[in-house]
Amino acid sequence: MAKIRIGLGVTGGIAAYKAIEVMRLLQKSGCEVSVAMTRHATEFIQPLTFRALTDKHVIVDDYDPANPDPIAHINFSQEIDLLLIVPATANIIAKFASGIADDFLSSTYLASTAPVMIAPAMNVTMWEQAATQRNIERLKADGVHFVEPVAGELACKTVGTGKLEDVENIVDQALKLLAVPPAVAGGTDMSGEQILITVGGTREAIDPVRFISNHSSGKMGFALAEAAVARGAEVTVVAGAVSVEPPEGVKVVSGISAQEMFDAVMTELPDATVFIGAAAVADYAPADAADAKIKKEGRETMTLELKKTPDILSEVSERRTEGQLVVGFAAETNDVVGYARSKMEKKGLDLVIANDITAKGAGFNSDTNIATMITRSSESELPLMSKRKMADKILDEILNLRKAVPANAARSGNS
Ligand code: PMT
Repeated sequence: MAKIRIGLGVTGGIAAYKAIEVMRLLQKSGCEVSVAMTRHATEFIQPLTFRALTDKHVIVDDYDPANPDPIAHINFSQEIDLLLIVPATANIIAKFASGIADDFLSSTYLASTAPVMIAPAMNVTMWEQAATQRNIERLKADGVHFVEPVAGELACKTVGTGKLEDVENIVDQALKLLAVPPAVAGGTDMSGEQILITVGGTREAIDPVRFISNHSSGKMGFALAEAAVARGAEVTVVAGAVSVEPPEGVKVVSGISAQEMFDAVMTELPDATVFIGAAAVADYAPADAADAKIKKEGRETMTLELKKTPDILSEVSERRTEGQLVVGFAAETNDVVGYARSKMEKKGLDLVIANDITAKGAGFNSDTNIATMITRSSESELPLMSKRKMADKILDEILNLRKAVPANAARSGNS
């Protein structure tokens, strides 16, 4: 399939440097990136930086004698599948909305037939200004897509909406807009890996109406699945109860109770080169789930006898075959690293992701997480970041481990 071609427009805001990371992630996802900059953008970042990383001429000015193509704005605009502006200043938004074409980027916008996605970044007052909002509404009416800025402390030390969205989310939205299944646009550094991931929380029946469960949404496990597919892996997810949709390109098997999740994992395990236990699996379940709804009449209290559930992660580690990597999570509230390291040793794991589920912005149902990655020989902190970004960091660590544990040829499809 032909490479996806992205025209990356960079304008003159303090967040211009983040366009480098956007470009890198797009390239890592298999896209071909051409860069155009406004004159003001070159005040923040040298065109040479992008030229070195794309090996292409970076166009700032149509009439620049160094520009090899005198009608570049026409050719550039006709040779892209998406025009992505990162960051977008209030000025470029106003020019696009008004049809002004007094520089290369604004001319390219008018000459382009490709979809346009804009990621604004500016001071909160400029963002909230009626003129800016009017221009945005006009562009939205023209079919332009926006990656809304987020709230936070801005470069000008004010706090409010105007901060550029996370670069991973910008790239995710750009790829989604192109309706390119991540497996196609993705990189290839995990091709050959067959990854089995447990996701979400289990539900342990008390009776046909009631159950014991937990707050897991599935976001962390699905972020791992999405990142792995985007990097060329084949991914099977065994999902418990989740509150978010699975990503594209992933085989999903249901395993609602711990026992059902255990059975599904054992069925899928022989083909896996990597197992990741991201699910919040109940450690105990009612010893005898009632067949009929338990009536409360005459009862002031109810005592439930609980029995241990199968330990999926331990059993996977027990059954490990040559070349399989086994990764666990540890959801703790205190002595996080201590408990996680003991889990790793007791269960014979290759890697544990320890997260303090009481930390702000970490754990259950949040879009972000904070964790420590622990192997037998290392410990690395993952500060507050999106679960999608954390997923890539975890996969990077798995690739590190892979160097010492070659995948079994039969299983990784390299036969
Ligand atoms: O799904 P989200 O809302 O995004 O929340 C993410 C998360 C907090 C659920 C995730 O980051 C996380 O910490 N998952 C593990 C939760 C958990 O059950 O941790 P634990 O310390 O209780 O279990 C340790 C490990 O053993 C885990 O890999 C777990 O999947 C596994 N386990 C536990 C019990 C059991 N019977 N079988 C298992 O496989």
